[in-house]
Amino acid sequence: MKGLILSGGKGTRLYPLTYTRAKQLIPVANKPVLVRVIEAIRDAGVDEIGMVVGHTAPEIQAALGDGSRWDVSLSYIPQHSPDGLAHAVKISRNFLANDPFVMFLGDNVIEGGISQLIRDFADNDWNSQIVLKEVENASAYGVAQLRPDGSIERLIEKPAAPPSNLALVGIYMFDHHVFDAVDAIRPSARGEYEITDAIQWLIDHGHSVYPHIHRGWWIDTGKPTDMLEANSHVLEETVPCVAADAEIDARSTVDSRVTVQAGARIVNSILRGPTVIGQGTLIENSYIGPFTSIYHSCQIRNCEIERSIILENSSVIDIDRTLRDSLIGRNASVKRSAVKPSGIKMNLGDHSTLWV
Ligand code: DAU
Repeated sequence: MKGLILSGGKGTRLYPLTYTRAKQLIPVANKPVLVRVIEAIRDAGVDEIGMVVGHTAPEIQAALGDGSRWDVSLSYIPQHSPDGLAHAVKISRNFLANDPFVMFLGDNVIEGGISQLIRDFADNDWNSQIVLKEVENASAYGVAQLRPDGSIERLIEKPAAPPSNLALVGIYMFDHHVFDAVDAIRPSARGEYEITDAIQWLIDHGHSVYPHIHRGWWIDTGKPTDMLEANSHVLEETVPCVAADAEIDARSTVDSRVTVQAGARIVNSILRGPTVIGQGTLIENSYIGPFTSIYHSCQIRNCEIERSIILENSSVIDIDRTLRDSLIGRNASVKRSAVKPSGIKMNLGDHSTLWV
């Protein structure tokens, strides 16, 4: 069994963060989503992984290298334009050869890993296995319509009027028959080779596609609100730990659900978990509330933050309102200005949003 991770694409819904960074490298609970995907595949016993990469290839390659840090071997497969998930399978044929494989979208986070799914696929003679999840907004996803016996009748990509509330999760298992399917299909109305059309082709040509219904949580981290939700779920499951060289002074209160990473300093502050404070970050005279992830080398002074993600090298200083449900990028600075006339002053990147 091999693994195929898709980490091309544009990430437009996460602008402005994804102007300068691959969306799959944005961290959830201080670990990039893509690393979570690699670990899920590895923990299921698959260590030969192809990584489909687009224009952000250099950044992804610099972050992940040959994969040895996670005990896997990574091969990079360049996709020159994001022509669809089925196109990504097509261009990975040499790497995949005739082996069965699990394809995992590099922006998906799922509860409970994929070990059982891989075992089920290995123990049965299905040509493909897909994962479905009941959702409220099915029209944002690929959607499955099942027959009364539970088999798949139809798959439709982002339908305006979904025939069910069963969305396709970004985890798929295939044997080599999928190559006939991706060769046979034509681009959809949005100009992409859709994996839903390829799976429909398998069904229509008598191949067996088994639908597994996932009961735990699943997040496609496409939008800022999804990132915050994924962050909350993962923090909830994190086993907290305080690094030996983290410094927490006697005036601070840090509850038992807070993770404090190496070299972080907590000074005269209150921290309520689940929360993670990154390597070398300073928290001073502040309150950090539940479901917050502050990445490495940040400075947080004289402010209150709840349910937010703050990326590396950023600072939030002297803010007298609680910062909540916020996503702050790298090297960003949020601070009080002492210069008159008073008022809100900003230097926002393209596609930024500020709520006041
Ligand atoms: O997350 C689940 C959904 O993922 C499914 O329900 C849909 O059926 C499926 O089409 C897909 O929809 P998205 O609109 O979320 O796909 P997105 O364009 O965000 O791409 C998903 C991942 O695949 C992302 O990490 C980028 C990567 N990708 C995407 C395309 C179109 C590639 O590597 N190459 C591509 O050509």
